[in-house]
Amino acid sequence: CGIVGYIGEVDAKEILLKGLEKLEYRGYDSAGIAVRNAEGVTIFKEKGRIADLREAVDEEITANIGIGHTRWATHGVPNRLNAHPHQSTSGRFTLVHNGVIENYHLLQQTYLKGIQMKSDTDTEVIVQLVELFVKEGLTTTEAFRKTLSLLHGSYAIALLDAEMADTIFVAKNKSPLLVGVGEGFNVVASDAMAMLQVTDQFVELHDKEVVIVHKESVEITELDGTVVERAPYTAELDMSDIEKGTYPHYMLKEMDEQPTVIRKIIQAYEGDNGELTIDTAILQALQAADRLYIIAAGTSYHAGLIGKQYFEKMTGIPVEVHISSEFGYNIPLLSEKPLFIFITQSGETADSRQVLVKIKELGYPTLTVTNVPGSTLSREADYTLLLHAGPEIAVASTKAYVAQVAVLALTAYVTAQASGKGLEFDLKQELAIAANGIQTMIDSKDVLEDIAEDYLKIARNAFFIGRNVDFYVSLEGALKLKEISYIQAEGFAGGELKHGTIALIEEGTPVFALVTQEAVALNIRGNVKEVVARGAYPCIIAMAGLEEAGDRLVIPHVHELLTPLVSVVPMQLISYYAALHRRCDVDKPRNLAKSVTVE
Ligand code: G6P
Repeated sequence: CGIVGYIGEVDAKEILLKGLEKLEYRGYDSAGIAVRNAEGVTIFKEKGRIADLREAVDEEITANIGIGHTRWATHGVPNRLNAHPHQSTSGRFTLVHNGVIENYHLLQQTYLKGIQMKSDTDTEVIVQLVELFVKEGLTTTEAFRKTLSLLHGSYAIALLDAEMADTIFVAKNKSPLLVGVGEGFNVVASDAMAMLQVTDQFVELHDKEVVIVHKESVEITELDGTVVERAPYTAELDMSDIEKGTYPHYMLKEMDEQPTVIRKIIQAYEGDNGELTIDTAILQALQAADRLYIIAAGTSYHAGLIGKQYFEKMTGIPVEVHISSEFGYNIPLLSEKPLFIFITQSGETADSRQVLVKIKELGYPTLTVTNVPGSTLSREADYTLLLHAGPEIAVASTKAYVAQVAVLALTAYVTAQASGKGLEFDLKQELAIAANGIQTMIDSKDVLEDIAEDYLKIARNAFFIGRNVDFYVSLEGALKLKEISYIQAEGFAGGELKHGTIALIEEGTPVFALVTQEAVALNIRGNVKEVVARGAYPCIIAMAGLEEAGDRLVIPHVHELLTPLVSVVPMQLISYYAALHRRCDVDKPRNLAKSVTVE
């Protein structure tokens, strides 16, 4: 979910709506805004996209204070009733919330038994508690503080009091939230992109702080009332980075940016002598580790699987890769000197963050590999490596994945070199070759569009197979297709398919097979024969040098470790065109959100 707020001198509606549009990647099941003027507070909310909300907003009503929300449903189905903002019974208090209040049921039973709730959300409990405590005689600030002290779980909150013309009450715990400062106005937002339209000056908020935002000031205190002084920072983001320009979709723009992203990474990690390098402290932490534990979710997890190969092959350090949501209750036996590496595009994924919190409690060193400087996981880990991919807006991750793979390769390479492991290739040069290879794939859009049409226009399901790293890319290829085209897809290790899943192969079932690894090229071709014998419609994507007659696509030759950078691109583009053919909303697939800040 995403939150915005504005308090200032101009009409708040447009600023809130524009802000929410920029936050839609965080969820788009339903959305709402509340604005306050002399007549009181007016709420507009709608199921669906911000565009639907925009339609519902009454242009006649103007107000210079307001809050807004775009939702990714957790408690309660996505409908108008459950959409935020939520109001207390009397209508005096109005609130937007991102996160999950774990003890909401208990709070309701303990404090709010006699109160008729209007929605099924955990959020309403918060706003009702504030009203209750005000009725009991507390000021709004005191009631807000008291309510916050009772909440267990994650939250980013903005609250309006209809009787206070000049205040937005703000707080956060675990969920991201920033205050943006301007001349004669201040804003609130889940991320800086949302409010870049009015300011590039932002103040970071920490967990459990209570923040009172007026149009001329921002007062931050801790829950116990201790005053906090914190200077704003300048968000290093450019409006053009977050607009899609002439592209029909962010996803297409972001896929096209991939060669540039690789080149930017090379530049960013180039030392004065032109050699690739990483921060000395990070290098030392890597060298000191006897085992690396990679923790990630979704696409980042798939990048982590490839990272494991890089570290093990280049540095000899053993690596485990774990899905973050599973790790917390299934902690493996740890080595003596572990280093935890969190891979996360957004730096906000709650599943990954809860592992980071646990690992910090255990006292082990932590490194976050992220695309978002200043994100929660970046701030909270001991070290950060940045992806330099620029903002990724489309829900389906493309350029961030490629950046993750490149940065992991580079980190493993630099660590190996520093530890005196003889590596017989120049990674900088090989990455540059891979960037060109990606470009060739991007320039083959017409071929990939044909493949999508040919194989997937009417497909019910599809399989992706590969061996070695091609297996990991198959997982990512299947995920891309599922996410945006809703075709049921599975990625498989070529040799494993026959142990059960081959039962699903029918006449015409599309099977995409990757052949980029010389050592297993014959084996995977053998697996293709097995599925063809059972009626499958195979699409072999082979690397130049390993191709055979009948292969559907040949990808440029790159270093054998870097093939995922190139082989993933046709997977992305085929998924994109399959989704277009099926008239799916490519940038905002159903049920998903780009940054999931609940566990
Ligand atoms: C969400 C997104 C996925 C993403 C995953 C992890 O589920 O829809 O595309 O891979 O979160 O996100 P992160 O920001 O931690 O890489």
